Amino acid sequence: MRPKLSLPAVADKQRSPRSGAPLRVYVTRLPAPRPPRIAVLGAGGFIGSHLVPRLARIPGATVDAVDITFDKLAPGLPRVNRIQASLTDPGLLDQITARADIVISLTALCNPALYNTRPLEVIDASYTDLVPLVKLCAERQRWLIHLSTCEVYGRRALTVDGRPSRRMDEDRTALFLGPIHRERWTYAAAKQLLERVIWAYGQHHGLRFTVVRPFNVIGPRMDFIPGVDGEGIPRVLAAFMHALLAGEDLVLVGGGRQRRSFLYVDEFVDALLRIVERPERCQGQILNLGNDRNNVSIRALARALVGAFRAQRPDCALPRLRSQSAAQFYGPGYDDSAVRIPAMTKARRLLDWRPRLTLAEMLPPIVADYLLRYESRVAGEPRAHAATPGAP
Ligand code: UGA
Repeated sequence: MRPKLSLPAVADKQRSPRSGAPLRVYVTRLPAPRPPRIAVLGAGGFIGSHLVPRLARIPGATVDAVDITFDKLAPGLPRVNRIQASLTDPGLLDQITARADIVISLTALCNPALYNTRPLEVIDASYTDLVPLVKLCAERQRWLIHLSTCEVYGRRALTVDGRPSRRMDEDRTALFLGPIHRERWTYAAAKQLLERVIWAYGQHHGLRFTVVRPFNVIGPRMDFIPGVDGEGIPRVLAAFMHALLAGEDLVLVGGGRQRRSFLYVDEFVDALLRIVERPERCQGQILNLGNDRNNVSIRALARALVGAFRAQRPDCALPRLRSQSAAQFYGPGYDDSAVRIPAMTKARRLLDWRPRLTLAEMLPPIVADYLLRYESRVAGEPRAHAATPGAP
């Protein structure tokens, strides 16, 4: 991406239409376009580890990659400057925004198991810690590309006057969260409030921004495997991979009837790069990035993942699917979205982007990566007996 510049006017051949005398034209000499400096906050996480290598391939671009750990990010990337720091470190955001042209913010505690168990940390990570970033980007006229979440739509898609609708649309769908004691929605509420802060800075203080709402992006290096590189319950793909690697049952919360629309991480990163290349179209916009064709139940995801796993480990005992209540699995205060389907028209119009990968195509490379990365490190118990997949 290069900053959009208009060319200097050509003055010497122009004459006044009335007198024919040469026109005095004041030419504004604009600085030569220069390659962008891009800061990525949360560069060492799942999305960051896929995004940063692609950004670093933009001709001439420099990337400031900021995170507290870089375990997932490939080493030795050219023109990537690793800054090991927390966003809350004094002076860090000041330093980053002083020199970046574009700031891409990816940081959050985006794991549903935390929303009702560590809600205050979730709110700080998604809102409190990021308000200073928004202010600095506005003051310094940096383009803020902020990753929000499809969770802001809440429990289901509703029109603005509260009638059910099918798709979640950036500019038309109401945001429908549960009651306060349903702490699941702490994350969505914090993310929504930050979107409103960003919007207000855009409307009233000239902030150049793009807000992205990702819909269930999956891929290699997602979250963590409990007991290996993290503790607790990761998001569903990693939770199922852990179960498969450890020879445990795949747990279907509430029977697994809830549905999600899954998008492969490489296609998501393609879309982010298109945003970076299209400032005129994308600034001031809120944008869904998802794949409406991969709208499946969690039970269907489990079955597909079992199939992909057994294709690569044909000797493994048949994994079992087991239903558990949400209260047992996540504890009190959990709630859920029954179905999330993104409206795709805006992303298609602004980015000329349409994701193509089906679940059947994206799962084999994900399984292969988890096997490579974790298989020898997961202490699996041999499965006592085989059973039928799908039996809760
Ligand atoms: C999460 C985050 O809250 C969002 O920030 C994020 O935008 C979204 O993922 C995403 O990845 O884009 P959610 O889809 O509910 O939201 O998270 P998952 O943990 O992936 O759960 C998906 C569904 O699977 C939920 O209904 C959950 O109850 C279920 N689940 C999860 C299981 O049935 N079994 C498990 O072992 C784990």
